[in-house]
Amino acid sequence: MGYTIAIAGKGGTGKTTLAALIVRVIREKKLGSVLAVDADPNSNLAEALGIEIKETIGSILEEISLHPEKIPSGMPKDRFMEYRLQTAIAEGNGFDILVMGRPEGPGCYCYVNNVLRNIMSKLVKDYDYIVIDNEAGLEHLSRRTSRDAQALLVISDATKVGLKSAKRINELANELGVKIKKRLLIINQHDQEVNKEVIKDSGLEYIGNIPLDNNITKVSLNGNSLLGLDNDSPGLKTLREIGDKIWQEN
Ligand SMILES: Nc1ncnc2c1ncn2[C@@H]1O[C@H](COP(=O)(O)OP(=O)(O)OP(=O)(O)O)[C@@H](O)[C@H]1O
Ligand SMILES: [Mg+2]
Repeated sequence: MGYTIAIAGKGGTGKTTLAALIVRVIREKKLGSVLAVDADPNSNLAEALGIEIKETIGSILEEISLHPEKIPSGMPKDRFMEYRLQTAIAEGNGFDILVMGRPEGPGCYCYVNNVLRNIMSKLVKDYDYIVIDNEAGLEHLSRRTSRDAQALLVISDATKVGLKSAKRINELANELGVKIKKRLLIINQHDQEVNKEVIKDSGLEYIGNIPLDNNITKVSLNGNSLLGLDNDSPGLKTLREIGDKIWQEN
């Protein structure tokens, strides 16, 4: 059964950046097979990992609903869907990636989410690690796409308001009865002292800060992949140091 790391946090805190770097370090340490899941409808985890995505769960569902004639006669729709969804998993160098996407045009995400949840429950068995980059806010928790994770990793800035929102994510996970073994907090883009009281109040286990890293800024400005980020970048080095808490069982 794969070890699932669900990454959450308010908008722009660095979820996608850290998801990509976590995939990179798990690969670098040869800890096992990794599936990166981009569960944000405004996805950009694939770009961060340098992968060009041709199909998403959303685009496949769209295709099947617009062209039901593509379902081979005699094959149940569910079977066909399962088969097609397998083909949405793209192969990177040392990891795989699945992108949720969204259906084009008006329509709700609930269906895409349900499908994602169903196939996730199968896919967790096929990989050693599953790293899920969630959309900002709490919706993914209430829609339960991040159910049953070994680690919930909340990314926050150092502000009181930011940390309050981290606390809220933790509370919601409790209220919804999401099964999570470890609830961790990283403060990103910050290398100063943090207010320990406020952090404690979040109910999350604080594992450290990731500094503001000019190399990450450059990669982002140029739209490059974080796999090309300089090996000695401060952000990456810090993640290697504090990351065992994220990807180790205990
Ligand atoms: N440690 C860091 N040092 C420098 N820049 C960073 C760092 N972490 C994140 N950034 C930058 O901050 C911006 C937001 O990061 P990112 O896209 O990872 O956040 P997010 O939480 O995924 O955002 P969203 O909620 O929109 O999905 C990006 O431009 C990214 O390059
Ligand atoms: Mg993001």
